[in-house]
Amino acid sequence: MNLTNLKQEFLDRIDKVFNIDELNVLRLDFFGREKGKITAVLRNLKNLVGEERKKIGAETNVLKKELEEILNRKQEELRKEEGGDRLKKEWFDITAPGVNVLKGALHPITKTIDEIQNIFYKMGFETADGPEVETEFYNFDALNMPKGHPARELHDTFWIKNPENKLPITYLTGSCEKNENLKNKEKLVLRTHTSPVQIRYMMTHNPPIRIIAPGRTFRYEAVDASHSHTFYQFECLMIDQDINIANFKAVVLNFFQKFFKRDIKIRLRPSYFPFVEPGFEVDFTCVFCSGNGCSVCKKSGWLEIGGAGMVHPNVFKAVGYNPREVQGFAFGFGIERIAMLKYKIPEFKLFYSGDLRFLRQF
Ligand code: FA5
Repeated sequence: MNLTNLKQEFLDRIDKVFNIDELNVLRLDFFGREKGKITAVLRNLKNLVGEERKKIGAETNVLKKELEEILNRKQEELRKEEGGDRLKKEWFDITAPGVNVLKGALHPITKTIDEIQNIFYKMGFETADGPEVETEFYNFDALNMPKGHPARELHDTFWIKNPENKLPITYLTGSCEKNENLKNKEKLVLRTHTSPVQIRYMMTHNPPIRIIAPGRTFRYEAVDASHSHTFYQFECLMIDQDINIANFKAVVLNFFQKFFKRDIKIRLRPSYFPFVEPGFEVDFTCVFCSGNGCSVCKKSGWLEIGGAGMVHPNVFKAVGYNPREVQGFAFGFGIERIAMLKYKIPEFKLFYSGDLRFLRQF
């Protein structure tokens, strides 16, 4: 191979060199003691004579020097890229504090529901559910509130138009019936309370029963500091042969003490709900003033939290139980209300505001 071709080959190859390893291979190919191409030319000089030997020898030495310089320059460039510059680019301080990753958190209502469930699970209760779009049978009739019953007026209801008499999609999920059409041309409502889950559960299970049913409920009500059109309740139902009010008090007291992590007292006041007899409102010691009286409890030392009572015989008849054989209690508490008391949240609307300053506190 003549020297011009050798030089061209070298230049072509060095163009395709991108790191020191490849450069070393090239160096060996041209200047290696054993097989280097330039080394071979120099070694061959001994076979030449006179002027030719002088000429080729001188030319080869010039070329050798030139190629070595190119090699060294390339090596310098690659070292900078691979070494110093790269180190500078990739250098980082391992002692510097990390960048905080923004993490989501459970919504306070979800958190409260989880806490409620965990306490009740330890008492042997399980969770049941039902649809948010209900028929008037489950929301009212079976709960001893037939059409025209004045108690229906106490629930400001969102009625749903249903000209085709179809079951809503939400109705076809969970533990609901799978019929495509409503059996009796019933009206649909956004459930006004979680009590219809009692009916659904009793119609599909035999006593003994120990369930809670947390869920979203709706009433046509104005929003104020402690009310909303959309809110959460949790229902509790315990049925067996001899469940009585003492059992109710024990369960509720145990729940509140575990939930608020303090010793609180509860008070039952007679009240009226058509699906229980006797019925009562449940109050408990005001957590803001420990019962001493403050503006939140209007100086009474007590806070109202929900309704309760012993399940009415007509409800047992509606679900096909014999009221002489079973008895039990039910209650329905407002979830936001108890979350407001536990976390000292002053405004109901904060739950639904999506305000991150509020949500990040949980
Ligand atoms: C009922 O809804 C009954 N189903 C409770 C019940 C169940 C009684 C089983 C007997 C046996 P009431 O309408 O009082 O009851 O509502 C219960 C709780 O839900 C209230 O004490 C309150 O904490 C909450 N609540 C009711 N309406 C609203 C509203 N508009 N906004 C926020 N919370 C509400």
